[in-house]
Amino acid sequence: MKNGQIWQDVDGNDIQAHGGCIIKHNGLYYWYGENKGADNKIARFVTGQTVSRVDVIGISCYTSTDLLNWKYEGLVLESNKDDEAHPLHTSKVVERPKVVYNEKTGKFVLWMHVDRADYSYAGVGVAISDSPTGPFTFLHAMVPNKQDSRDMTVYKDKDGTAYLFHSKDRNKTMNIARLTEDYTNVDGFYVSVLADQEREAPAVFEKDGMYYMVTSGCTSWDPNAALFACCPCVNGKWKLIDNPCRGENADKTFFGQSSYIFEAEGKFYLMLDHWQPENLKKSGYSILPIEVTDDNCLLIPWQEEWLGI
Ligand code: GAL
Repeated sequence: MKNGQIWQDVDGNDIQAHGGCIIKHNGLYYWYGENKGADNKIARFVTGQTVSRVDVIGISCYTSTDLLNWKYEGLVLESNKDDEAHPLHTSKVVERPKVVYNEKTGKFVLWMHVDRADYSYAGVGVAISDSPTGPFTFLHAMVPNKQDSRDMTVYKDKDGTAYLFHSKDRNKTMNIARLTEDYTNVDGFYVSVLADQEREAPAVFEKDGMYYMVTSGCTSWDPNAALFACCPCVNGKWKLIDNPCRGENADKTFFGQSSYIFEAEGKFYLMLDHWQPENLKKSGYSILPIEVTDDNCLLIPWQEEWLGI
């Protein structure tokens, strides 16, 4: 699979799983993401600003044993076509779906950025399922801890505690909000980190007791330089360190934007979206291995191809 391009599933259809995540459950990898498989629209706002969008279709799921051959499992959460007030209505925004498995309840919990077309709601939605291939039942939408929330991810720590990382204060600062034990809500505890650094698209992992967060800058669908931050605990004082990308176009994250970091066979990999704002359904993907140095730096060189594991 050529990094940076749109990939196909085992049936030869374009993989529609943008802004996604990959988790492993019982030996199988599951890739969830935004299905953007429709034509672009231009949304015009009262401010005069415009943004390219695709009406909400739903959240796709693909499965694989080797992270290379992906089988489409269908839409695990579908848009709402009738009720304009519903957070999943086709006219809204549903982005960056992240799924975590809760060992205590045995449920798969899906968090996503839900918004109005002009991004003025700035909240999250939560859905649950008994099965990784859905269907997921939508539980609620909320503005977590009364703080605006746009790009986000969910991170499950070693002790089973899960956290919502979300850009807040109009993307100026990152919040890390602890989830309830069943992962379906925030529990009220949160910290604000990377104050005024204007980072979004957070992707988080932990290695040898150090936590790392890769983020992008805030330039909508356009690429910019990634930065990584690190911290010895999830809710401590995160420090921005450097751009982890190396090689040509490293200052533009190889024309991609971070969506998630997953672990496979002891190694960590960064997923990128290569947004095509003129035709979002053709936005490409990359998966790049992450090298963690002995002095806690991340190095992410470009690779032409993703060969799986
Ligand atoms: C990006 C964000 C995407 C999407 C886009 C819309 O900054 O990372 O998830 O929200 O803006 O313009």
